[in-house]
Amino acid sequence: MEADAAAVAAVVAERLLQGCRSGRPLGLATGRTMEPVYRALAQRWAALPALERAVLGERWCSVNLDEYVGLPAGDPRSFRAFMMRHLARPLGLNPARLLLPDGAAADPRAEASRYGAHVAALGGIGLQLLGLGLNGHVGFNEPPCGPDSRCRALALSAATRAQNAEAFGGDPAAVPAEAITLGLAEILAAERILLVVTGARKAAILQRLLEQPPSQALPASWLQRHPAVCVIADRAAAP
Ligand code: GLP
Repeated sequence: MEADAAAVAAVVAERLLQGCRSGRPLGLATGRTMEPVYRALAQRWAALPALERAVLGERWCSVNLDEYVGLPAGDPRSFRAFMMRHLARPLGLNPARLLLPDGAAADPRAEASRYGAHVAALGGIGLQLLGLGLNGHVGFNEPPCGPDSRCRALALSAATRAQNAEAFGGDPAAVPAEAITLGLAEILAAERILLVVTGARKAAILQRLLEQPPSQALPASWLQRHPAVCVIADRAAAP
């Protein structure tokens, strides 16, 4: 357990940098939890020797968990735009090396299959970064969800649309009704997983997650079956 969100961000940024050096695809997440994490990573990145920065940037490969369906390309509320703002621009990365599902694709189901196949063709994910939804989702794997779920398009729950309304002028109805997400199968296939949980509003769901056996009602609970999962929480979120 770390003291606060800034201390959590420092630890996670260090792990991400190690994950980057491993050469395997990084599994990345969006959300408010990740904003200080990417800020801390950008600070570390700026302090690297120029040559190492160039080498790591040249072979950068990251795969995001999810994207909203139906936002036009370039919409500032899309997860692609979030990753540009918080990661690609601060680190000076080539945007083409940051992979996300295309939420503007004409056929979201076909896009989900394409994205899942692309991740598999990359050999899967090395280090997977995860945030935690207030209803226990990871990525956008909404309850009920089993460990064999794969990359797919799905309807977002009312709870998730309310949780994410802030970026949509505070109106849950303005949050897209559907998203594309990697499934628990692809997440659980990652070599290592970092679940990052900060803030008092996450305390109750984190406690449930740590106490309950895996169940469909709590998608993140399947992470308990992974051999190399690490939960990094601050004092406010820790039970
Ligand atoms: C979002 C994302 C998740 C994210 C989670 C937590 O809906 N799909 O990948 O980790 O919910 O969000 P936040 O960090 O804003 O609490």
